This record gives sequence, C-alpha cells and structure tokens, in this order.
Amino acid sequence: MNILIIGNGGREYAIGLALLKDTSQNHLFFAPGNGATSSLGENITLADFESLAMFAKERAIDLTIVGPEAPLTEGIVDAFHAHGLTIFGPSKAAARLEGSKIFMKEFLAANAIPTAAFLQTDSYEKASDFIDTLSAPMVVKADGLCAGKGVIIAQNKDEAKAAVRDMLSGESFGSAGMRVVVEEFLDGYELSLFAICDGDEYILLPAAQDHKRLKDDDQGPNTGGMGAYAPTPLVNVGIYEAVKKRVVEPTLKGMKEIDAPFCGVLFIGLMIVKGEIFVLEYNVRFGDPECEVLMPLLKTSATDLFYKAATKDLKSLHVDFHDQVAVGVVVASKHYPYKTSPSVPISIDAVEIEGAHVAYAGVSGSFEEGLHVNGGRVLLCIGVGKDVKEAQKRAYALCEHVHFEGMQYRKDIAYQALNQ
Ligand code: AMP
Ligand code: GLY
Repeated sequence: MNILIIGNGGREYAIGLALLKDTSQNHLFFAPGNGATSSLGENITLADFESLAMFAKERAIDLTIVGPEAPLTEGIVDAFHAHGLTIFGPSKAAARLEGSKIFMKEFLAANAIPTAAFLQTDSYEKASDFIDTLSAPMVVKADGLCAGKGVIIAQNKDEAKAAVRDMLSGESFGSAGMRVVVEEFLDGYELSLFAICDGDEYILLPAAQDHKRLKDDDQGPNTGGMGAYAPTPLVNVGIYEAVKKRVVEPTLKGMKEIDAPFCGVLFIGLMIVKGEIFVLEYNVRFGDPECEVLMPLLKTSATDLFYKAATKDLKSLHVDFHDQVAVGVVVASKHYPYKTSPSVPISIDAVEIEGAHVAYAGVSGSFEEGLHVNGGRVLLCIGVGKDVKEAQKRAYALCEHVHFEGMQYRKDIAYQALNQ
C-alpha cells in the first residue's frame, strides 16, 4: 500500500515503523516528517489540505493516517473525503471532542458518561459563584486548544477566580479562553486509554500511562509527556469493562446521534478514583509518547487495523497483542519545555540493543549526514520485555548510548507499575 502519514513526531515515526514491520510492500510518505522518517519513506513539504489531497490522488495513496490534532480539528478528513480518498481520523465535527472542552463536557453529561462535576460559562460571576461551591483545589480550563497549557489547577478560590478572569479577558489564551470550564478536582491516578474506532465498532488497546512532569517523582513543569509504558498493571478487567460499557460505547452511540460518527483514535484521559472511572478529557488522536509504546505491542497488522478502521470494516478484524510490556523514555533537549534548544549533533553509539529501539521525534538532518536536535522531545528509547522491569531496563540501557549536549530524561518511567 501507499500510505501517507501526517505529522512529524515520534508518534508518526512509530506508526511508520509498525507499518513497515507488517510488510515491506508498504510505501510510506510523511508530511512533513522529520530527519529520521526520511529513512522509512519519503518526506514531503506540502501542508495545505488541498495540495495534500492532490498529492494523495496523483501518487495513488491508499490510506492517509493523521497524527496530530490540529489538522483534524481544522477538517483534513472532510477535505480528503470530498476527494473520495481513504483517511483514518475523525471529521471536523467529530474532532470537536478535543477541539472544544465545552463540547466535550456537555457531550459527556448528555450521554451520562462519568466525569468531574463542572460548569461552563463566559460569565465571571457565574464561574465565581460555582467556585464558591467547590472545595480546593479546583480546576479551570480554557475551552479551545492551547497546546496542552490551558488547564490550571488552582490551590484556592482566589487563584481559581484569578485564572477565570485572565482567561475570559483573553489575556492568557486569546480566543481559546473566552469561555471556560470550571470543575471539581479529582484525586486519583491517571491512565491513557485508546480505542480505534470506525464509527460503530472499536478495538480497545492496552492501557498506558504517561508521565507529564519534566522531573523524577512527578516534579517540575508539565510537558507533552516524558515517557510512557503499557500495559499498566494499574488496570484490571473491571476497569476495561467499565471503559467499554460506560465510556466508549455511549460515546460512539452519542456521536452517531448527532451526525458526527467517530472514526479514528479516541484517546480517553481517565482518572481512577477509589476504583471508579472518570473521563478527564478526550483527544481525537494517539497520545505522544503513548503511541510509541503501543505500536510495538500490536501483533495484528497495523496496516489492517488502520485501513479497516478507515473503511468502516473493523468488524472483520480480530486484533491480538503481544504478551509483553513496552516502556518508552523520552530524551528531551536542553531547554525543554521552556524554550528552543540549540541544534546540536546527536550520536547514538549502539542502536542494536536486545529488545530496544529508538523512535525519533525532534530531529533534523538525516542518518547519512548526521541527525541534529530540532525540537523539545528529541527521541524515545523504547524497551520491550516480558515484564515492566525487563522493558524498563532495556529502555534505560539504550538511553546510555544516546549522546547530545544538554540531553535530559527521567530516570523513573513506569515507577507506578513497580511501586504497586
Ligand atoms: P486535560 O488537558 O483536561 O487533560 O488536563 C491536563 C491535566 O490536568 C490532566 O492530565 C490532569 O493531570 C489534570 N487535570 C485535568 N482535569 C482535572 C481534574 N478535574 N482533576 C484533577 N486533575 C485534572
Ligand atoms: N501524551 C499526552 C498527549 O499526547 O496529549
């Protein structure tokens, strides 16, 4: 198959690796890709949807897979469908589950899907009255996409009210913050669950855990994610069943009812509080770095999985996973997540470690001419093994072989699995 992958991160690199593992017959294109994806396929520089669709037609692309949320919420899937092209991802209408926190929260409430109690408003007075009914801490969220920064955990009522005021004035997040969601704080542990959906049917992937903070022991600022592992032993059959029956199935049903059937990756940010599940948020794409640890666990062909989901044929597919654990450690650049880091050279002195491999993210250049740092999260070292311990050991053994100036990584990825 000719497959076009939209995006440039470790997530898209990992999807590319999985597609090539299936069959060397797959020919991959990345738009725009990174310095390492050019070794898996061809990088192309087109960005606007019409040019990409024309490219897909001219090059007989059989399937397009969209990595990040921005093109989805801007309607890339609708644009490709208008040209009769096959693309895996939600329509613009369905992508509102991630594009608008208010849409998402009201959808959850309307379909009786468990979530934190909330109020959505553009009125400071209403928000303030609701805050007075909550006990600290409480959570204030901007409605629109804010690159993961639009969530404030306020330690007291004054802080919460100040956050609302800043958002509503447009000061903090511009138009994305002109409406806000205020919600109760849930005290539990977080999981990342992914359902591959074709509108009606779905496949739930093994539960993963991300590590959002920069430093060990969940200290330091929030990041896009410093590492992930899957499956996590923090779930049991009961939680998987609850996610299916109380979250995924009502979501697919509810989205069909509003003429926005959900096809693509439903990423469920879940909080478990004393064994009960609550949806924190939806994203409409794979998590990054979660995707990089989930792809190696797929036993079934990734090509079949994505193609059948995109063509509404998941029913005909049985999906199996390896009985293994994958741990992915993000190696980030010097100033991440504060500011751009220098484009220093990267050297890796052993890529062939048993059960370990690299997924490349923020890299420029090429393998032939040398890779350079080109972004915050530079690459991931992924270990796959029979249990969390073995996978973690392999991932960290590979980290030892990666060198570039200012590199930083957490030393405790998967700690919750080992501490339990
Ligand atoms: P979101 O973008 O909604 O996932 O929020 C980002 C992060 O904020 C989540 O991953 C949680 O760690 C935290 N968070 C969001 N909402 C809540 C909540 N109601 N209670 C506790 N933590 C939350
Ligand atoms: N790892 C979290 C995200 O991709 O949003």
